[in-house]
Amino acid sequence: MTAFDVVIRGGEVVDGTGAARRAADVGIRGGGVEVVDDLSGADAAEVIDATGKVVAPGFIDVHAHTDLTASMPDKYGTIKTASLLQGVTTEVCGNCGFTPFPLEPSRREEFKGFLSGLFAGQRGGFATFAEYREAIGEFDLAVNLAPLVGHGSLRAGVMGMEDRPPSEDELARMEAAADRCFEEGAFGLSSGLIYPPGVYGQTEEVIALAKVAGRHGRPYATHMRDEADRIVAAIEEALRIGREGNTGVEISHHKLAGRNNWGRSEETLGMIERARDSGVDVTIDVYPYTAGSTYLAAALPPWVNAGGAPALVERLRDPDTRRRIDKEVEAGSDEWQSLVDKVGWESVVIATTSAHPEFEGKSIVQVAEAMAVAPFDAACQLLVADPKVLMIIHMMDEADVQRIMAAPYAMIGSDGVPTPGKPHPRIAGCFARVLGHYSREINLFPLEEAVRKMTSLPAGRFGLKDRGTIARGKIADLVVFAPTTVIDRATYDDPLVPPAGVDAVVVGGKVAVRGGADTGVRSGRVLSPA
Ligand code: ZN
Ligand code: CU
Repeated sequence: MTAFDVVIRGGEVVDGTGAARRAADVGIRGGGVEVVDDLSGADAAEVIDATGKVVAPGFIDVHAHTDLTASMPDKYGTIKTASLLQGVTTEVCGNCGFTPFPLEPSRREEFKGFLSGLFAGQRGGFATFAEYREAIGEFDLAVNLAPLVGHGSLRAGVMGMEDRPPSEDELARMEAAADRCFEEGAFGLSSGLIYPPGVYGQTEEVIALAKVAGRHGRPYATHMRDEADRIVAAIEEALRIGREGNTGVEISHHKLAGRNNWGRSEETLGMIERARDSGVDVTIDVYPYTAGSTYLAAALPPWVNAGGAPALVERLRDPDTRRRIDKEVEAGSDEWQSLVDKVGWESVVIATTSAHPEFEGKSIVQVAEAMAVAPFDAACQLLVADPKVLMIIHMMDEADVQRIMAAPYAMIGSDGVPTPGKPHPRIAGCFARVLGHYSREINLFPLEEAVRKMTSLPAGRFGLKDRGTIARGKIADLVVFAPTTVIDRATYDDPLVPPAGVDAVVVGGKVAVRGGADTGVRSGRVLSPA
């Protein structure tokens, strides 16, 4: 027998299916798994000693925003490897409706500017998926990418940031652009129905695009129109879009936001389970934290954001308009997902703002004290200086997070936002936290189940046929970790600290992490759907 490229020896294999662990060595050759058995006598170019450790399929992050992370300048190095160092080997990116494509030429600059908050260091907006794929493929990818195409971008790419329904011609152009993305290899459709410009799209418009996804057999992943008071209507809308689009539905980062909604996961999971029992193909994902993170501007009524950043700044500068917005934010709404009225400005913390880095990590109440103005005015001043401010908002209940995570059809998605400053620690801690805290420390589910939620379950949902389990013939995307010590170390104060206990990561048969450290090997690829 010729030698293996890599042998992982002495560990216990947790194969991703949920089956109990078993002692076995893993032999890798030509980028694939060739043998899962006793290989104590085999020759190998490289040996990883996994004694006392678990060998699992590389984790699949089903909710990433890493479309352009590989193109970020080198000074963002720790962000670029944050997922790899947790054992992630594939990221489903392009979530929440935001992708850097497909944009008609006249819309490119406007939307690129808007997206530069989410995609720090982005180098461009692209006309097509293929153009994006080629551009990002020129960079060294630490992990594989399985990109979705965003409804928000499809919309902005045709009609900009306008708050109106599309004309017949505009909708036809959006459908054609979506069709081309799927032809070229996009893994599914995403939406972000609280964000401009996605929020301006009505259900029928999203159904039209879901139909295109459905024709290609690709799923619809949605950041729903409401994750607070109107969550039931939002789930109904998501299920309807799936039904009429004839496509599977992934409810992104399922949560119950706002104190008055805490505990309602019993009701929402019940709804989802009834749908599943009646044959609807719906699954969910979740991140293991009680805070979310997004644009600060998303805390304002949608009309305030219409027309994009320049129009937003103009409205916030006008004293009368500002007072009107303040009242609407304070009062909350049945028309849009208001959050600040439910959790208070003290729960809103600045994550990233280039104009005022000194306020990163501070709550809006603290910023207001420093500026000697009211909290709402502090938020406005930050937005006027930099409309792309990102926030962390503490708004969920731990019991809901646990109930959602424990659902057997719930997978794990980090929703990490790859930006400088103090981003949400989920970007560097998500997967290790599920393994170390939720599985080992509080025993929410066995380790084998935790691994299944990060591997075979997402592989099945997003059509990653050759990944997600350890078996002969599968791609060698693997992680070796210490089940007794693995834990997240990223915190809100220090969000990019890598986890402990993740020993080795293999991406496409190449050892990318060894002894817990980045080897510098970059073997990730932009994947194609099966
Ligand atoms: Zn989202
Ligand atoms: Cu997201």
